[in-house]
Amino acid sequence: MARVETSSSRPYHLVIFGASGFTGQFVVEEVARTASEGPKGTLKWAVAGRSKQKLEKVVEQAAGVLSKPELRTEVDIIVADVEEPDSLAAMCKQAVIVLNCVGPYRFFGEAVVKACVENGAHHIDISGEPQFLEGMQLNYNSQAADKGVYVIGSCGFDSIPADMGVLYTRDQFKGTLTAVESFLTVSAGPDGASIHDGTWQSAIYGLADKQKLQSLRRKFNHKPLPTVGSKLKRRGALFFSNEIQQYTLPFMGTDPSVVKRTQRFLAEEQHATPVQYGAYAGIGGIGNVFKLMFAGMIFWFLVKFSFGRNLLIKHPEFFSFGFFTKAGPSRKQMEDSAFQFAFYGEGYTDGADPSQGKPNGKIRTLVRGPEAGYVATPIAMVQAALTMLNESTALPKKGGVYTPGAAFVNTTLVNRLNKHGFQFSHLLICICIYPFYFIRNLLISSWLQCIINPLLIKDK
Ligand SMILES: NC(=O)c1ccc[n+]([C@@H]2O[C@H](COP(=O)([O-])OP(=O)(O)OC[C@H]3O[C@@H](n4cnc5c(N)ncnc54)[C@H](OP(=O)(O)O)[C@@H]3O)[C@@H](O)[C@H]2O)c1
Repeated sequence: MARVETSSSRPYHLVIFGASGFTGQFVVEEVARTASEGPKGTLKWAVAGRSKQKLEKVVEQAAGVLSKPELRTEVDIIVADVEEPDSLAAMCKQAVIVLNCVGPYRFFGEAVVKACVENGAHHIDISGEPQFLEGMQLNYNSQAADKGVYVIGSCGFDSIPADMGVLYTRDQFKGTLTAVESFLTVSAGPDGASIHDGTWQSAIYGLADKQKLQSLRRKFNHKPLPTVGSKLKRRGALFFSNEIQQYTLPFMGTDPSVVKRTQRFLAEEQHATPVQYGAYAGIGGIGNVFKLMFAGMIFWFLVKFSFGRNLLIKHPEFFSFGFFTKAGPSRKQMEDSAFQFAFYGEGYTDGADPSQGKPNGKIRTLVRGPEAGYVATPIAMVQAALTMLNESTALPKKGGVYTPGAAFVNTTLVNRLNKHGFQFSHLLICICIYPFYFIRNLLISSWLQCIINPLLIKDK
C-alpha cells in the first residue's frame, strides 16, 4: 500500500514542481480549487521551481484568479533546480507526491524521478514522451518497487483519456472486449486554439530521437501479447473516417504506447484479455489536409538536423501555422475549446467463446472534456494525485513505474474526472450472430439508431 500520510518531516501531500511553467501555473490553480478533496478534507501543498520570484508571481496570480487571498500566506515555496541534485533531494523529502511539470522530460525528467525514488516521494508527471516514460520503467521500476514508491507517468491529456477510456469501454462491455479504435476530435471557439511551445519542443526532440525508442523497447525483451478475436487492421496514413466524418490520421502522440503498456500489465498481472488498440485523430476538411502535409514535410525534414531543430524551436508560430506559440493559448481560447474521444470497440458478448469464431458484439463510448493542454491536463493530473491520496489501498500492491491505467484500474478515478468536467459515457450496440438474439438485437439496434443518429450529428 502506498504511503500517503504527511508527517513533521514530510509536511506536504503535494509539491508542484515547475509551478512557474505555462502548464504548472494551471496545475497550481487546480490544486487550490480542489484542496478540500484531500484526505480528511484538507490538502497540504507547496510550489517548487528554480526561481523564487516566478513562484511568488504564480501564487499571487492564483490568489487573484480564484479570489483566494489566503493562498498568498498559506502556500509555501521550495526552490529546487534540476541541475542541483541536493535541492531536488531536499524537495522530495518534504513531499508525499511530487507533481512534476518540468519538461521536456527527456532533458529534465530523469533527475526528478531518481530523486523521488531515492527519497521516498511518489511521482506523477504529464509527459507525452514515450522514450522518457518507457525509459523510466526500464531503469527505475524495480528500485521504485523496493522503496514502495509509485512513479505514474502521462497523467495529463496524454494519456489519461485514452488509457482510462479503453478501460472504461472494457468495463461497460458485457463480455470480453478484444479491440478498440479511438478517434480524437478537438473543437475551438472563434479565437481558435493554440498550444504552448513547451509541448512543441518535447515533440521536436521526441521525433528527432525516434530510433532510440526502438532500441529502448528491445531491451524490455517482451513477448508479443496474444491476439484474441480478429486482428485489428491498421488504417492508412490518411483516410476519411466515417466514424467522425472528417479526414483522419494515426494519432502521433503517446496514447498507443501507454495503452499497450497498460494492457500488457493487466494481461501479465491480472490475466486480463489484452485489448488491441488503434488511435486516430481527426484533422478536419481537405484544406487542413494540404496545410498539414505542407507543414509536416518541412517539419520532418528540419527535425533531422540540429540547425533545423534550432529553427523550429526559435519560430514555433511560423512552422506550425500559428498553432504552437511562445505565449500559449489565452484563457478565452481555453474556455472555448474542448476534446472528444470516440471509442469503437468489439468483442465477444457474455456466453460467447472468445476462442471460437469472430467477435459478435460492438460498443461505442465517448470521453469528452475541456481544452486538452491546460484545462483537462491539470484536472487529470490533480485528480490522479487525489485518487492516490484517498484510495491508496486500491493501487497496485507494489510500488513501481506505472501507466495511469495500470495504477488506477481499481480506483474511482473515472468518477472523479466526471465530477470535474470530463464525461465518460457509453452507447452499446450489440450485434449478435446467434438466431435467438439476432431479432431481438435488430429491434434494439434500430431503436438505438433513433437515439444515436441525432447524437452523432451533435458530436461532429
Ligand atoms: N500531457 C499533456 O497533455 C501535456 C499538456 C501540457 C504540457 N505537457 C508537458 O509539460 C511540460 C511543460 O510544458 P510547458 O508548456 O508548461 O513548458 P514551460 O512553460 O517551458 O515550463 C517548463 C518548466 O520547467 C521549468 N524548468 C526548466 N528547467 C528547469 C530546471 N533546470 N530546474 C527546475 N525547473 C526547470 C521551468 O522553470 P522556469 O519557469 O524557471 O523557467 C518551467 O517551470 C512539457 O514537457 C509538455 O510537453 C503535457
